[in-house]
Amino acid sequence: MIAVTGPTGNVGRALVERLVAAGRPVRALTRDPQRARLPAGAEAVRLRPDDPAALFRGVTGLFLYVQAGGDRTPALLAAARAAGVRHVVLLSSSIIDSGADPAHPIHVMHATAERHVRDSGLTWTFLRPGAFATNAFQWAPQIRSGDTVRGVYAEGRTAPVHEDDIAAVAERALLDGGHEGAAHRLTGPAALSNAEQVTAIGRALGRDLRFVEVPPAEAGPDLFPHVPPGMLPALLESLAATVGTPPEITDTVHTVTGSPARPFTTWAQEHTTAFQP
Ligand SMILES: NC(=O)c1ccc[n+]([C@@H]2O[C@H](COP(=O)([O-])OP(=O)(O)OC[C@H]3O[C@@H](n4cnc5c(N)ncnc54)[C@H](OP(=O)(O)O)[C@@H]3O)[C@@H](O)[C@H]2O)c1
Repeated sequence: MIAVTGPTGNVGRALVERLVAAGRPVRALTRDPQRARLPAGAEAVRLRPDDPAALFRGVTGLFLYVQAGGDRTPALLAAARAAGVRHVVLLSSSIIDSGADPAHPIHVMHATAERHVRDSGLTWTFLRPGAFATNAFQWAPQIRSGDTVRGVYAEGRTAPVHEDDIAAVAERALLDGGHEGAAHRLTGPAALSNAEQVTAIGRALGRDLRFVEVPPAEAGPDLFPHVPPGMLPALLESLAATVGTPPEITDTVHTVTGSPARPFTTWAQEHTTAFQP
């Protein structure tokens, strides 16, 4: 049995769907089982980081989001170990080995979680993805209502990685041996600017979208509906670093899963409903 935290998240949901399709028993540890809309075949259990004893009965592998355990991550991992869990796959971030300031809040959050996992006594695999293709959902409200997209750093370049490619690597790390102690840096196959991503979404929709750059000082929470407001300054700092610096591109998705990482154009074609009025 594999336990998946954050099963309603971009990566977590893709992983649950994969495990169910593969016929593997999966327990989805979600904050709200009533609203989770998980696939039939997944066992939905309320995530109670303050009372983790019952969560892991029969579980051998755990997929962990940094946010799911929060401050209670050490207790959650201890409960997992006590119940017989052997391996944990942590969704971390490329910020860890990007050379970013270790005091950057996003760095601190992931480095702390990695330390808790290393200290847990479980075997582990860290997934350190770069920018997610799903970050493009930040433009969805604007694209649903018009052809102009206001955003920061038109020329900021990333190599967006498909959420299901991250899930595919997680699946292999949970089900196969050989990933113990590995930190997998995951990216998409090609670098695109933010303006190019918006153009690609427009093509997938059959529309001509235009990116209009907004100075970062004028960027408020309205442009980043998916970002907790307290995290916005740190995020803007990270986005500034994507201008003029080519992103790392790895072939780890291909190496681990046997299938090449999907390009952003494919992601855009698969997610048109999110951008349609
Ligand atoms: N976006 C990027 O470019 C990027 C790059 C590298 C790393 N990351 C990391 O990847 C993770 C985001 O992945 P994602 O896009 O798949 O996540 P997501 O869609 O935001 O989902 C996260 C899930 O975690 C669960 N959760 C439990 N406690 C939570 C809490 N206190 N706050 C928020 N969610 C909580 C929720 O599931 P339930 O409600 O079902 O419990 C939620 O659906 C973050 O840790 C982020 O730092 C992101």
